[in-house]
Amino acid sequence: MNLGRTKTIEQSIADTEEPGHQLRKRLGPLDLTVFGVGVIIGTGIFVLTGKAAGVQAGPAVALSFVFAGIACALAALCYAEFASTVPVAGSAYTFSYASLGELIAWIIGWDLILELALGASTVAVGWSTYFADVMKAAHITIPSWAYGRGHNLAAAAIVLILTAVICLGIKVSSRVNMVIVAVKLAVVLFVIVAGLFYVKAANYSPFIPPAGSRGAGGATSTPSLLQDLGFAPGSFGISGIFTGAALVFFAFIGFDIVATAAEETRRPQRDMPIGILGSLAICTALYVAVSLVITGMVKYTSIKIDAPLAAAFRSVGRPGYATVISVGALLGLTTVMMILLLGQSRVFFAMSRDRLLPPAFAAVNQRFGTPVRTSITTGVAVAVLSTFVPLTELAELVNIGTLFAFILVAIGVLVLRRTRPDLPRAFRCPGVPVVPILAVLASGYLMLNLPAATWLRFLIWMVVGFVVYFAYGVRHSRLAAAPEEVRPPAASTR
Ligand code: ALA
Repeated sequence: MNLGRTKTIEQSIADTEEPGHQLRKRLGPLDLTVFGVGVIIGTGIFVLTGKAAGVQAGPAVALSFVFAGIACALAALCYAEFASTVPVAGSAYTFSYASLGELIAWIIGWDLILELALGASTVAVGWSTYFADVMKAAHITIPSWAYGRGHNLAAAAIVLILTAVICLGIKVSSRVNMVIVAVKLAVVLFVIVAGLFYVKAANYSPFIPPAGSRGAGGATSTPSLLQDLGFAPGSFGISGIFTGAALVFFAFIGFDIVATAAEETRRPQRDMPIGILGSLAICTALYVAVSLVITGMVKYTSIKIDAPLAAAFRSVGRPGYATVISVGALLGLTTVMMILLLGQSRVFFAMSRDRLLPPAFAAVNQRFGTPVRTSITTGVAVAVLSTFVPLTELAELVNIGTLFAFILVAIGVLVLRRTRPDLPRAFRCPGVPVVPILAVLASGYLMLNLPAATWLRFLIWMVVGFVVYFAYGVRHSRLAAAPEEVRPPAASTR
């Protein structure tokens, strides 16, 4: 399974020690867990729960969260093993370079752009909607030229502000993040506790609405690929739980981004698994609780698709609570964007250090100790995208790209166990090969539950990636420049 040129693990680690290309090691397990929770809780729970409950799964959206959470836990175990074995920047990209070869690494890196940059753009658009809402509550009018579909300068502005924060250094970002994450967690807990008083058992009936029925506003969901191919019925029913899971999967994206900070972690072998699995466990529990409360407060057919959490409290006569939740969502989405941007700049950094992208992007600014040039390039690109792109379809495109990366990482664990059994692994994925195989199957199944149009866009994106690789990366990469460095991954000591 060694496709193309492969860097050895030793090469990957040596790369991180190259002068002028080092990131500072300052993060501990708490920083990482906060990082994870900061990026995981966002648009998924605050926005997408509405659509998943309203037109896909009904109250059974709680089961959608459980299934998506299980799929992520399986992938997380694979990520944790990789991250604790290969402690270098770049996440799935770096891991796959060390195990599956340059071509697969490129595919994953390209794929991660869908997850991180497009994800950040998507969240920025959601952020601007909440921003407009909060401004309206404060009776402040945003000029029409600054906010609207296709000219969303509010979204672009927040992206550029956060880019500046990131450039100042990861520890600064981490501190800002810690405060905002605390507020966000408080708001989520507030939704659960305050909402419990308004739950009516009748709203849970039927818990799994009949297949083919209509949901909020008489709408049905876009059919998934499986439904299009005739393997599953339309909205709701059991299959609705899985199409819902494929959408709310977006809510879990981020635990893998913790792994992108491996190179900046003081003790990656111990801290990475804690950061990844810890943040995932916390978020899964909160999502299930929030979705049960919301669908208990409001009948799924009346749920609001746009801002379901705040709307639920308005519908029970608590507009003050709704405003608190909106402000919390606004802050929450800010940290999500920030960490997605941070992850993207680190992946670009790793790819350009390998010369699959122009090497200028791998330079670390001496004063701040961060890859400033890469961060700014990423920030500007994301800001431009945020100005133009709509939110909902993009979430599905982000999901398919991320799920595909999970599949490749799980396969990577299996390959690396076979090719490099000697490597010290601070965290070993339990139940190999069963767990990685289940991770592949669960992620693949979620992909099949996304719409055919999403598959088409994903395939086009990957084709463009191949063109870029064969037009640039294949000739400029460090492995192309120094072929004597190319060794098959053989057993050796570190
Ligand atoms: N999981 C993140 C969110 O829901 C991406 O916004």
